[in-house]
Amino acid sequence: MTAAPSPVSGELRAGTTRLAAAGIDSPRRDAEWLMAHVLGIDAGRLVLVDTIEGAAARAFRSAIERRAQRIPLQHIVGTAAFGPVELAVGPGVFIPRPETEYLLEWAVDRLRERPGPAIAADFCSGSGALAIGVAAMSPETRVVAVEADEDALVWLRRNVTGVTAVIGSRVEVIAADVTDPEQIADAVPVGSVSVLVTNPPYVPLDAAIGPEVVHDPARAVFGGADGMSVIEPMVPVIARTLAPGGVVGIEHDDTTADAVAACLRAHGDFVDVTRHADLTGRPRFVTARRR
Ligand SMILES: C[S@@+](CC[C@H](N)C(=O)[O-])C[C@H]1O[C@@H](n2cnc3c(N)ncnc32)[C@H](O)[C@@H]1O
Repeated sequence: MTAAPSPVSGELRAGTTRLAAAGIDSPRRDAEWLMAHVLGIDAGRLVLVDTIEGAAARAFRSAIERRAQRIPLQHIVGTAAFGPVELAVGPGVFIPRPETEYLLEWAVDRLRERPGPAIAADFCSGSGALAIGVAAMSPETRVVAVEADEDALVWLRRNVTGVTAVIGSRVEVIAADVTDPEQIADAVPVGSVSVLVTNPPYVPLDAAIGPEVVHDPARAVFGGADGMSVIEPMVPVIARTLAPGGVVGIEHDDTTADAVAACLRAHGDFVDVTRHADLTGRPRFVTARRR
């Protein structure tokens, strides 16, 4: 026997209660996203739907149960919004975070200051969030997206191919270790990049992480005991890759703004070393210009 349709409002109420009990911060919003995903509509259109068929209701309750187990919402729906794009994500790749959009905006502003064709780079590209975001928002820019992890590279290539209608072939994917100067010089001409962004692994090993973060690959999250194990060796590679006058923005842990700034100053090739905080005052990224 087919189950009768159930009211969307009741399903949403029950889902919200379940997610709140599981300790989810935004239970109603997550329940709405999951309902919209199951129905194949935008969350904004939910108000137009009164009832949900039996199979869809079961799919919704199953999605709620997975979310209650602290599986990230983005893994359940299979996508993550970042700036102007939507990226495919899942196990094996870091879920782009909204706070990284500050770095995206900074990079796009720097590119707008130098009209005409430019080369940008995204070191530690993961899903391609920054690389694809920059290419989408800066139509004359070519972007080199560098990533070392085989699993992440699968998602990166898929995302770059998935948005060719928006970015054409302006994002080139390079499989390389950003701490290895020879690998990078082979792939990106020395002194060629005007704007370089990077959101590397930077969480100190002993930091407490939330239940969802365990679903991100450890290689994407942790930056050694002090959070600097990728940033420190990457800085000389960045210096070689940037054109004279080129700029870099490095996202970092809340506790390492001083260490990142000191590392850039100690290198000797960087000037205008500047820390940037988000709207809540939390230190987010450090920028610098190559002499
Ligand atoms: C925090 S994630 C950032 C991903 C993406 N840029 C974003 O903002 O969502 C860091 C990424 O760096 C990659 N990674 C770690 N060490 C690397 C290295 N030495 N060379 C290149 N990529 C590396 C990880 O695999 C992961 O995809």
